[in-house]
Amino acid sequence: MKLLVVGGGGREHAIVKKLKESELCSEILCAPGNGGIAADARCVPVAATDIEGQVALAKQEKVDYVVVAPDDPLALGLVDRLAEAGIPAFGPNAAAARIEASKVFSKNLMKKYGIPTAEYEVFDEPAKALDYIRAKGKYPVVIKADGLALGKGVLICESEQAAKEALRQMMEEKVFGTSGSRVVVEEFLTGPEVSVLAFADGNTLKPMVSSMDHKRALDGDKGLNTGGMGTVAPNPYYTEQVAAVCQKTIFQPTMAAMAAEGCPFKGCLYFGLMLTPAGPRVIEYNCRFGDPETQVVLPLLQSDLLKIMLACTNGTLAETPVEFSAHSAACVILASGGYPEHYEKGKEISGLENGQLPGGEAVVYHAGTALKEGRLVTAGGRVLGVTATAPDLAAALKKAYAAADNISFEALHRRGDIGRRALEAVR
Ligand code: AMP
Ligand code: GLY
Repeated sequence: MKLLVVGGGGREHAIVKKLKESELCSEILCAPGNGGIAADARCVPVAATDIEGQVALAKQEKVDYVVVAPDDPLALGLVDRLAEAGIPAFGPNAAAARIEASKVFSKNLMKKYGIPTAEYEVFDEPAKALDYIRAKGKYPVVIKADGLALGKGVLICESEQAAKEALRQMMEEKVFGTSGSRVVVEEFLTGPEVSVLAFADGNTLKPMVSSMDHKRALDGDKGLNTGGMGTVAPNPYYTEQVAAVCQKTIFQPTMAAMAAEGCPFKGCLYFGLMLTPAGPRVIEYNCRFGDPETQVVLPLLQSDLLKIMLACTNGTLAETPVEFSAHSAACVILASGGYPEHYEKGKEISGLENGQLPGGEAVVYHAGTALKEGRLVTAGGRVLGVTATAPDLAAALKKAYAAADNISFEALHRRGDIGRRALEAVR
């Protein structure tokens, strides 16, 4: 089969590498891809959000199957448009992608179907939101923009003053664009966070190995929220007992709810969970693979990814094997100094040959790199993800950090404590 993967970050690189292992895969394109993905797939410079461009590319290249990885093209209906053109694709249609694209949709879905989540109200007027926050009088309080906001549309406010300022920025200044016209105000929950990605075919759901993201920029979970500075899998807080509760109270009910709403979910459904003292709660859904969760989950997948994806599209997931290794994986992100705010691009990357470490002790997933006159340079905030696997987490982390030590570029920033909390939880 000739495949097209839509997107161009570390997640897409991990998907491309895994798809290449499939016995069904003969050729693979990636649009737009990046400087490192170019070693594994033919990259074509069509933006992920250029819906007509992506459909035209798939037609022109006579692609057999398309994998749509990022949230925006899913929300914009790329899978629907491809279906109209007779091209099957992995990923939810626009109606099902609302589970991520609209927080109001997902919160209302959870309320209607009794799926455990933080208590909340929806507002389209800042004054009413503030009245509600005042009446509750409980801080911190969490304020979320309704629409997609690059993972940044969530503000945790410690006081009435901070909440007032957050509402002003979101709803009046529109710092997150129109996605802030409506907001969700919700209670602040506490507990370890777990990411669970699951394959879904509209009816059946099969969870992947659990993982833990590290969202803050600096060690000790300090600094600003980022797209993710590193991941480990499995997540030690996600015990078999917790998994059973999630399956029964969250995963299956979510699948049933989406089907009942007339938008059965097909693709990768991402559950962002918090294990609160009162039990697991949904913090957010994503309608796609997480980044950088994918960079630790897919390396542990032992079954054929392409066969699983096709089963999700065809509704045959129940009879398709989805098996994971019992090993652990760790991914350390190498970012540009200053990320997630201001940073420079175009810095030459040293230590790699053809985009990988010559020793092969770890896999390097390229998030933001470009080829400039044959040299690999930085081209984004998150530049590389270095993933290692080993029989246990401590060994995987040691390997990933040792491998990362061999890569350098000007103003490289990484966290030194990825996996520390996970290791403490095991002890
Ligand atoms: P989200 O983009 O919805 O995943 O939110 C980003 C981060 O904000 C999450 O990973 C949590 O750490 C935090 N967060 C979101 N909602 C809540 C909540 N209700 N209580 C506590 N923390 C939250
Ligand atoms: N790592 C979180 C996300 O992909 O949204």
